[in-house]
Order: sequence, then C-alpha cells, then structure tokens
Amino acid sequence: MSTLIHKLNETRRIIDQEIDRVLFLPNDLTSRVIEAMRYSAIGSGKALRPFLVLTVGKILNLPISQAIAIGTALEMVHVYSLIQDDLPAMDNDTLRRGKPTTHIQFDEATAILAGDALLTKAFEILSRPESLPDPTIRCKLIFELSVAAGTQGMIGGQMMDLIGEKTPLNKSQIEQMQSLKTGALLKYACLAPAYATHSSEDVLKALSQYADSIGLLFQITDDLLDVEGSPEIVGKTLHKDGCKSTFISTLGIQKTKALASQLAKEAKESLSLFKDQAHDLEEIIQFILSRKK
Ligand code: IPE
Ligand code: IPE
Ligand code: MG
Ligand code: MG
Ligand code: MG
Repeated sequence: MSTLIHKLNETRRIIDQEIDRVLFLPNDLTSRVIEAMRYSAIGSGKALRPFLVLTVGKILNLPISQAIAIGTALEMVHVYSLIQDDLPAMDNDTLRRGKPTTHIQFDEATAILAGDALLTKAFEILSRPESLPDPTIRCKLIFELSVAAGTQGMIGGQMMDLIGEKTPLNKSQIEQMQSLKTGALLKYACLAPAYATHSSEDVLKALSQYADSIGLLFQITDDLLDVEGSPEIVGKTLHKDGCKSTFISTLGIQKTKALASQLAKEAKESLSLFKDQAHDLEEIIQFILSRKK
C-alpha cells in the first residue's frame, strides 16, 4: 500500500505541474478567476482519477503525454464538480481538501466562474492536436467526457442527489444516482485510455465492469466517511449527509459495509483478463475500501 500512496503522490505532482503549465497567471484583471482555478485544482486531492488514467494507460501502452493530457482534463472536470457541489445552493460546504472552499476563499461569483472555466479548459486541453494527435480518437474522448460530465453522467447524478434531499430515493434510484454523480467520471478514467488505444471489446468490457464496481464503492466509502471519518484527515466538514438519500440512509451502516466488500470483490474479479499487469488496479480497490480520506 505504501508504494501505491507513493504512486498517487507522484501522479498528483505530475498533474499539478501540468495544471500549473496550462493555467498561467496573466498580468491583468482576468487573473483573479485563474487564481481561483489554481487554488481549487493544484496541491491537494487524491488524484485518483488521473492515477487511473495513467495506470490503465500504462497497461495499454498509451503514450504518457496523452495519458497526462487526459488525466489533467479529467481532474479539471472533477474539480469543477467539487466547486459546484460546495456552493451554498448545493451542499453549502466551507471546507474542501483541508482548506476553505472556493466560494469562501474568493466569493460565490468567482467560484462559479472558476468552475465553469475549469470545465471549458478541460475540453480545450482535449481538443489540442498536441494532446491527442489522432483526430478520431480526439473526438471520441471529447464526446465521452461530455457525456460523462453531463445529464447522463455527473450532472444527472447531482440532480438526483438534490431531489433525494426532499424525497427519499429507493435503492435502485440511489444506485443510479451514485453511478452517475461519481461513477461516470471514474469510468471515463478507466475507459479513456482504452478508447485512445483502440482496445478490444474484451478489454473495454473488463474495464467497464471494474469501473462500475469501484465507482459505486467510491461513493459508498465517501458516504461512510461522512458518518465515521476523522475530520482532520478527511479535510471536509463531516456529518452533513443526514438529509441525503444514500445507501446508509436506506440500508444502514452494516449492510452498506457488506455491500462495499461485495463491490470490492466484484471489482477484483473483473481484472482477471489483465493477469499480473492488474497489480496497481487491484491495490486501488483496497485503497478505496479502507480509505480514511
Ligand atoms: C470527492 O472526490 C467527491 C466525490 C465524488 C465523492 P474525491 O474524494 O476523489 O476528492 P479529492 O479529489 O480527493 O479531493
Ligand atoms: C459529490 O458527492 C459528488 C460530486 C459529483 C462532486 P458528495 O457531495 O458526497 O461529495 P463530497 O462529500 O462533498 O466530496
Ligand atoms: Mg453533494
Ligand atoms: Mg458535497
Ligand atoms: Mg460526501
């Protein structure tokens, strides 16, 4: 596990370096929004999504420069989703990644602009021929990220999450919500390298199953941390999900933990195709299952 933590930290360093490069600060009044983008995106966060892109990319022989471009774009969409999620009109959170949320550190309008600009910057990065030289692959990756970020993905799940505060969702609705709000971007992380390398149907299917399991598992452990986590380690305000529809609100803690173990088992099984190349992807399952932040 310590090597995995080291690799996650190394991914964080690589992606921070790339974000620093693409989000340079101009010497004019536009710089405030870029400062807010940099504040939110650089320096902390587990870098799990870019790590998955780099790890699957390595298995599939994706050139590292392409993996970095995809991972950076995806991390920017993820950070946009966090800024938006924390806004007063949504989860109204004041702490993220151990520091004040973007709207607290700056102001609400700047936070909205920074989130929107991270989203558009992600597509700018993917659209550049120097990021992905093959135009067909470039289009495919832009298309898939649009779907994963939008109403059939993260945004759709966030809408269900908000509805679930007012009306309790049933188990299948909760599963759909979690797969969309959290699973969709994690699935993109696993599948984008496969699209970029024209991988076989077998590979796509295995990665898809893996991603579905870790996507659900990841949101379940996030919800468990809200109840049982340690605030200093998690870096977010805890005990805020009482009004939300989650697996915990329908199944209770014990059954939710059993579901998490079952999903971890399924995720591991889906990797059999990759044999000993699957080591890091296997370790990530355990990392998600036992994570403290
Ligand atoms: C938090 O994601 C939002 C969810 C999808 C649960 P992460 O826990 O990956 O957040 P960072 O990137 O490490 O801050
Ligand atoms: C949010 O889920 C998932 C996103 C799409 C950002 P949560 O609202 O539970 O995420 P945290 O706990 O604030 O990170
Ligand atoms: Mg939320
Ligand atoms: Mg939240
Ligand atoms: Mg949460």
